[in-house]
Amino acid sequence: AIERTLSIIKPDAVAKNVIGQIVARFEKAGLTVVAAQLRQLSRGDAERFYAVHKERPFFKDLVEFMISGPVFVQVLEGESAIAKNRELMGATDPKKAEPGTIRADFAESIDANAVHGSDAPETAAVEIAFFFPESNIHSR
Ligand code: CMP
Repeated sequence: AIERTLSIIKPDAVAKNVIGQIVARFEKAGLTVVAAQLRQLSRGDAERFYAVHKERPFFKDLVEFMISGPVFVQVLEGESAIAKNRELMGATDPKKAEPGTIRADFAESIDANAVHGSDAPETAAVEIAFFFPESNIHSR
């Protein structure tokens, strides 16, 4: 089915100037950028976005990292977009990511891991709505 997923290019990858290289991988895989914004998250934004991880030991470092510089937030649309994006990203820990994946090629650590992607249809819907009103999403 045609799905939408939320993709975030994190501060480490934005700082490395590889937004275009990462977006090119999405496009080559048949995903379409239907919304996008370069944005500096506030601490409150990051805490709310990652609220499901609030009790995890890495939560504080995750929030600090996500507000350390601007992020590039996008909605990707296409056939099986959620799974396809996760395949392109590779494992959360870049040391475990398959060669040729975004995290294997661009990420330094499990914290600075270049990208975030929604993990399921329910979370995709919530994460997309967090950043983009429907009027700012342009399907085509
Ligand atoms: P992300 O997909 O953005 O979702 C939560 C983030 O927490 C994750 O990517 C990692 O960057 C970060 N993180 C740090 N430590 C861990 C861990 N042990 N397990 C999962 N995520 C972690």
